[in-house]
Amino acid sequence: MTGRIIQNYFYWNTESKLNAFLQKPDNESLYANIFSNAQGGEMKVVAFNGSARKNGNTAILVNHVFRELEKEGIETELIQLAGKEIRGCIACNKCFENKDRRCSVTRDVLNSCIEKMIDADGIILASPTYFANISTELKALIDRSGMTSIANEGMFKRKVGAAVVAVRRGGSIHAFNAINHFFFIGQMVVPGSTYWNMGFGLDKGDVEKDEEGLLTMKALGENMAWLLKKIHG
Ligand SMILES: Cc1cc2nc3c(=O)[nH]c(=O)nc-3n(C[C@H](O)[C@H](O)[C@H](O)COP(=O)(O)O)c2cc1C
Repeated sequence: MTGRIIQNYFYWNTESKLNAFLQKPDNESLYANIFSNAQGGEMKVVAFNGSARKNGNTAILVNHVFRELEKEGIETELIQLAGKEIRGCIACNKCFENKDRRCSVTRDVLNSCIEKMIDADGIILASPTYFANISTELKALIDRSGMTSIANEGMFKRKVGAAVVAVRRGGSIHAFNAINHFFFIGQMVVPGSTYWNMGFGLDKGDVEKDEEGLLTMKALGENMAWLLKKIHG
């Protein structure tokens, strides 16, 4: 085993035993049509909803942020990971060898997501709270796009990032922090709001009753638009 230092990471260069998995055919074209909701505009914010259910509370909260962005002429796109295949990082380290801004595992939606993130000026990562943390799907996106970014000298550097979290009762601050760790290690710029970006609700639509949560999303959208205009204006 050989040790090598890559940026701030002490990284063990291991012989991958998973070549068979990596060499499976590239099925990304299967996922070419997962993207929807694109609206017009010069700057763009892409949001990923990590919830296992589509159009639930997390998506509703994101749409409240989007409303403010769109008022300022910023294009928005919501990508819902529910039902899509997205696996965790297999620690093969091939992204550090290839340095091609892609994850070496090409059989799921991950590289399509990375392309969307690279193209956007702002990235919203949104998740329901699952056992006081983010969803498995969003964690897979964070681990693999984050490691690919580090391997490529920071693909998301100085993009604007915002976390959005839905929760029934407890644990959302951990989920919020988990998402923000991704933004900060990626040298991204993070706007604040009037509270930490969370909305309360259990069943689909319940967050619409959380008045403070919705005001938090509104202020987040306003601040994100303001920041994007400062950076790109
Ligand atoms: C597997 C699972 C774990 C959950 N864990 C928590 C939790 O730790 N704390 C909490 O308050 N709510 C928890 N919930 C409730 C969800 O966070 C809540 O219903 C949220 O609004 C769902 O968002 P969605 O409609 O976007 O899926 C959990 C739900 C599921 C399905």
